[in-house]
Amino acid sequence: MTTVLVTGAKGCIGAWALRALLDDGHGAVALDLPGNMHRLQLVLGDDLNRVTLLEGDILDAAALAETVQAQGITHILHLAALQVPAARAHPTRGAQVNVVGTVNVFEAARAAGIRHIAYASSIAAYSPELTFEPRTLYGVWKLANEGTARIYHLDHGISSIALRPYVVYGLGRDFGVTSAPTVAMLAAAAGQPYHIPFGGDMLYQSGRDIGRLFVRCALATQFDRAAVYNPPGTLADTRRVVEAIERAAPGSAVTYDDTALPFPTHFDTDELEEAIGSITMTPLEAGVAETIAGFREALEKRLVTPPQ
Ligand SMILES: NC(=O)c1ccc[n+]([C@@H]2O[C@H](COP(=O)([O-])OP(=O)(O)OC[C@H]3O[C@@H](n4cnc5c(N)ncnc54)[C@H](O)[C@@H]3O)[C@@H](O)[C@H]2O)c1
Repeated sequence: MTTVLVTGAKGCIGAWALRALLDDGHGAVALDLPGNMHRLQLVLGDDLNRVTLLEGDILDAAALAETVQAQGITHILHLAALQVPAARAHPTRGAQVNVVGTVNVFEAARAAGIRHIAYASSIAAYSPELTFEPRTLYGVWKLANEGTARIYHLDHGISSIALRPYVVYGLGRDFGVTSAPTVAMLAAAAGQPYHIPFGGDMLYQSGRDIGRLFVRCALATQFDRAAVYNPPGTLADTRRVVEAIERAAPGSAVTYDDTALPFPTHFDTDELEEAIGSITMTPLEAGVAETIAGFREALEKRLVTPPQ
């Protein structure tokens, strides 16, 4: 029996990772802070009752280790983190959760004899020039985690796969700098105007695809190193995103700025496929259409409210 612990499971990617686990018949233990059930309700609906939902803080190392043992965890997917705006507002807590929290997850795995972990790094680990000189503390901490994972492999033989997502979009993406394209999709579904405060080329990845990729990486226990990959997606400028929204919601009024975010635009995304096998990602236009249809339904059921 496969039982996967997902930390940060109430986040956007966490909800989609749980979706993939349930769809494939795996056991799922979701660990997150109290509150904030809305993304799980949105993405999982009635299937939420098939998840073991635990309230906990990854900074409580002893409780985390106890959870891994007591729940019979066989695999770990570590997603819990403070994203850029929260990390900027609370740098000490950000460093604790994003860096020490990751060490705690590796320690809990070590204590339970779990030999492999998948975890979330970020495109923010790079500078726009594709050097490892991040422009945010958040990016510095993600890079630190990649180092932590490398040392746990060297010292303790725990292998790992990190993914560096870029712009994740889809149901449940309502927080973080790059959530604006998804908020624009919600606004379009609600018939409201919206302004995306950035532009330029970026790689777009649907939450459904990224959640499933993370699960595949968590289950890849035959892995023998500490690796970090840039997952594939659709490289698109903001104009193309706005056009896709317009196609799915004719008459929508989404505008955008020209200012690019401080991320690279050209980098390798082939290595992940070489490591875990064939990958199919949803094309941007199909993902936007699915998201807007999902938001229309969620608005009707009052599972989401239009952006303020
Ligand atoms: N969404 C993106 O576009 C994107 C891009 C790059 C990297 N990432 C990374 O992927 C991961 C998941 O992203 P997301 O979009 O789902 O983020 P999110 O903000 O939606 O979810 C993060 C979750 O972590 C939880 N969390 C925070 N502190 C915790 C703690 N101390 N203990 C337990 N849980 C805690 C939060 O409550 C939240 O539910 C994060 O590590 C993020 O940095 C996301």
